[in-house]
Amino acid sequence: ASTLGAAAAQSGRYFGTAIAAGRLGDSAYTTIAGREFDMVTAENEMKIDATEPNRGQFTFTSGDRVYNWAVQNGKRVRGHTLAWHSQQPGWMQSLSGSSLRQAMIDHINGVMGHYKGKIYAWDVVNEAYADGNSGGRRDSNLQRTGNDWIEVAFRTARAADPAAKLCYNDYNIDNWSWAKTQGVYNMVRDFKARGVPIDCVGLQSHFNSNSPYPGNYRTTLQSFAALGVDVQITELDIQGGSATTYANVVNDCLAVPRCAGISVWGVRDSDSWLGAGAAPLLFDGNGNKKAAYTAVLNAL
Ligand code: XIL
Repeated sequence: ASTLGAAAAQSGRYFGTAIAAGRLGDSAYTTIAGREFDMVTAENEMKIDATEPNRGQFTFTSGDRVYNWAVQNGKRVRGHTLAWHSQQPGWMQSLSGSSLRQAMIDHINGVMGHYKGKIYAWDVVNEAYADGNSGGRRDSNLQRTGNDWIEVAFRTARAADPAAKLCYNDYNIDNWSWAKTQGVYNMVRDFKARGVPIDCVGLQSHFNSNSPYPGNYRTTLQSFAALGVDVQITELDIQGGSATTYANVVNDCLAVPRCAGISVWGVRDSDSWLGAGAAPLLFDGNGNKKAAYTAVLNAL
């Protein structure tokens, strides 16, 4: 195969990228993205602040721009993200308690209703666990509504769009020996045991010197999968862009039958949220394929 998407499809997987609506007018960008990837995540356009800027007033202009570009170019779409402590609109930041809980539920219903039947998988809850050694939840306004907020989000999501896979998505859950990984693992195990609807765990997999690609990454993927969920690598970028590390990530995914696919968090280095200097992606700022690209294509 000569593209990432086609190469991943050889094993029934997908290869995706984050797409920014503001870059869809850049033909160098859309040429690469259109050719190489078969799954799309809106980088910001389906987040809470973008889709519900005022309470009860939904706007899907930018989200639909990304969605329509993807579908018109034959790609599937991951939805990102419905319940998160970050990128909340001001009105939500100032809510608490039962009114915030209700706003979360209404938000999930509003956004999933708009995209009902059209989304491969939703990141229902993003980044709910704390960094460091606690293995517990992150403090946030959502967490302060009660520890059951995550399961309420998933139950609401299942009812809103039964066709979408429902994912829990987080960063720094790649290293099997980290407390945060174990915290999320225990939550997913508990959800499966109690019948809380969850279909997938998204590992963002932003790798850098503080959270490097771990040698036990495959163990982590296998362990989550053994709970009966898919695993998806949802926001892959590797500071410095090591070709070897990229190949390791691909090989680890391919070794786990329930690793459904990989998405990188941007097209060219110049599109990365980390800045072009981090050189974390598969294409350079001129749109040239990097060594990491070739390593990924050959590994798939
Ligand atoms: C980032 C976007 O790439 C930036 O454009 C934005 O300013 C901040 O959010 N984890 C996530 C993503 O789940 O939504 C984040 O995306 C990167 C970290």
